[in-house]
Amino acid sequence: MYDLIAKKKEGLELSTEEIRFMVLEYTNGTIPDYQMSAMTMAICFQGLNKKETLDLTLAMRDSGDCLDLSRIHGLKADKHSTGGVGDKTSLVLAPLIAALGIPVAKMSGRGLGHTGGTIDKLECFPGFSTDLSEERFTRNVNRIKIAIAGQTANLAPADKKLYALRDVTATVDQMSLIASSIMSKKLASGSDIIVLDVKTGLGAFMKDPADAKKLAEIMVEIGTMAGKKMSAVITDMNQPLGNAVGNILEVIEAIESLSGRGPKDFMEVVYALGSRILMLAGDAADEAEAVFKMKQCIASGAAKEKLAEFVEAQGGDPSYVWNPEKFQKADYVIEVPAQNEGYIQKIDAQAVGTACMMLGGGRETKESGIDLSVGIYLNKKTGDYTKKGETTAVVHANEKQKGEAALAAIQKAFCIGREKIQPNDMIQHTIDSASVMNNANSFYI
Ligand code: URA
Repeated sequence: MYDLIAKKKEGLELSTEEIRFMVLEYTNGTIPDYQMSAMTMAICFQGLNKKETLDLTLAMRDSGDCLDLSRIHGLKADKHSTGGVGDKTSLVLAPLIAALGIPVAKMSGRGLGHTGGTIDKLECFPGFSTDLSEERFTRNVNRIKIAIAGQTANLAPADKKLYALRDVTATVDQMSLIASSIMSKKLASGSDIIVLDVKTGLGAFMKDPADAKKLAEIMVEIGTMAGKKMSAVITDMNQPLGNAVGNILEVIEAIESLSGRGPKDFMEVVYALGSRILMLAGDAADEAEAVFKMKQCIASGAAKEKLAEFVEAQGGDPSYVWNPEKFQKADYVIEVPAQNEGYIQKIDAQAVGTACMMLGGGRETKESGIDLSVGIYLNKKTGDYTKKGETTAVVHANEKQKGEAALAAIQKAFCIGREKIQPNDMIQHTIDSASVMNNANSFYI
């Protein structure tokens, strides 16, 4: 390991064998944290080229279990988001795609910090479980075209260990390390089609759009080289996605969306990601055809029926899909009045996510429990006009004091001014395999 650190410090290329040795011996504890810290810092300064990044991804993928989805018929699709506020996309996209006949065999995670997670949202349906045996997972996808499981403990354990180390050594923000971390888990999850939603803006991990694009290109390239059908969409996360932030509120918004009443910005993201999946699966020739199919599927009621079927298949109560008023409500509903008159210039997504976390709706650490019924509903979005005193948002709280603190935070998150403004385009870029594979640049740094 000493020699490998020295080699990378000099900017030399590590071989496939060296990278596999480093990853496997670090995972089993032979290589200590202090040597791996020196290596990740050397990588931050010297970078990894394409070959090294692919080798690192594959070694981390192979450090634990790789799901075998070969008993599931057809091309399996998965979607991954880099995390946002109000991001309930999987709750709508997964049943929608499954209702159109594409198998969705997905692993999801829980929320952490100001961003939410799909599993917490699915668990809003009483009885719902993501703890599925491989047998049941396979059977469900073959029978109803959809299953979502929690990540198994042994999925890419090298990444789990390395990510915790990067987190405390200021080495998280290196592109090849981020890309290999995300893609190792996606590749181990076994789907044939992987569509990435890379968020950019104030509420996103990648605040700068140029960085988001670069990360998306690297991930698409790695996935393509690993034999997957890949695409990525860069989407705006300067303000929360849709109107609802908070688990139950978001589930209700997802059900509304599957009933044809989804917020415009949110549905744009759903259709953009869904189009890539349909096109990669060979089920649509172009985006127009894909969007037409998805709109029809929602209008016919098939997508919402699929959600109910999926909830029931994983032990949840499907009656909540048909009667969302059954979901538990928070004790206090506090209106947030506009402090001035004018146009909403900005809604700080991260501040809204943090307010939701303060209400108890998000986790501060991986071990924290969460309150599913709290959250924030935004009545106004960027570009909307408001009178002074008009309700811009509604806070749902179970503790009055926390509700009042959230009210103050939300008021601060809204920036109101005289200038008429247009919100950012939701879809900032789309990246596919053909565009990145023609890119002559062989170094990622
Ligand atoms: N998310 C991941 O899974 N890995 C990273 O390195 C960064 C974000």
